Amino acid sequence: MSFALGIETTCDETSAAVVTDGRWVLSNVVRTQAALHQKYGGVVPELAARAHIELIDEIISLALGDAGITGPHLDVIGVAHTPGLVGCLLVGVSAAKGLAFAWDKQLVGVNHVAAHLYAAALYEKVGPVGDAWAAGDTWPALGLVISGGHTTLYRMASPRDLIKIGHTIDDAVGEAFDKVAAILQLGYPGGPQIDALAKRGNPEAIKFPLTLLGRESLDFSFSGLKTAVLYHVCGVGGKQRDASTLSPQERADVAASFQRTATDILITKCRRALGQGEYRSLVAGGGVCANSAIRNGLQQLGREYNIPVLLPALQFWQHNGAMIAGMADELYRSGMRSDLCLRVVATS
Ligand code: KG4
Repeated sequence: MSFALGIETTCDETSAAVVTDGRWVLSNVVRTQAALHQKYGGVVPELAARAHIELIDEIISLALGDAGITGPHLDVIGVAHTPGLVGCLLVGVSAAKGLAFAWDKQLVGVNHVAAHLYAAALYEKVGPVGDAWAAGDTWPALGLVISGGHTTLYRMASPRDLIKIGHTIDDAVGEAFDKVAAILQLGYPGGPQIDALAKRGNPEAIKFPLTLLGRESLDFSFSGLKTAVLYHVCGVGGKQRDASTLSPQERADVAASFQRTATDILITKCRRALGQGEYRSLVAGGGVCANSAIRNGLQQLGREYNIPVLLPALQFWQHNGAMIAGMADELYRSGMRSDLCLRVVATS
């Protein structure tokens, strides 16, 4: 049995977790800074890094305590070292290096975007698993990461071997949800609020542009959609009026129509990718997987292609230490090692 500690400080969540054998989560402590950044309408990097410094020791202690183990029992310490906000990454990586040195444990640097896809492999209870992942029928998989900073498609030969086949050329889909929520004066983070409001709206009410970048492309673009929503709500140029002039029903219709269009873009690109290659499953990860319409769209696509759709459990969609610990264990078992010179890398 192997025990991995995972540390995640890439953006505005401070998290640490303990995972055994790469799949069973013994603890997963996540502290979000959403309230700290709310009044700025987005994450302020300096504030985020400072909050990580204040929290990191406590979060790691809680994760070890909840798992009922102490540092010397660990086999590996995994840390998200890319991509992310540099000041934030430095906090997690410095903590991981210090502990690896003090406890004489192996350090493994993890790409947190790859870990978003690994999150689909995680379970909270130790026991037999009957999923496609365990049966080894998963690969090659089509991987879709949808978060506040990323919208990327991968061909996954395994959880460790990812080839990027498409990505956003402008905004990430989560960013588009957050910006549309700001236009509708719904607050930050906006994704969950759009999701809730859309349930009361008519997704066919407004025809927003379905940007597909040609017939073959697997890249994404969401900035035109965001601008179309801005002009619809605030007038051409975006400054003639604001969302307070909309009735509650009109606001819900904008949310529902935007969400439907964003979902159609994601599903169309996944369908294209499935049509262009041989895939045995569809794996998705990232905070936007929480969206009900997108989840339904992905499940429907899986039925269309008769392949399993592997989505993380609710508590593993957003940034969390468990996905870092699980991925670190997977990498460790395949021979990957990092040393105390591990660097933080903002983009990868
Ligand atoms: O993966 P994640 O925690 O981290 C970032 O990369 O930031 O994802 C956060 C993103 C935010 O943009 C948030 O608005 C979005 O996920 N999100 C949602 C929903 N829940 C969170 N977007 C749409 N619908 C949701 N239900």
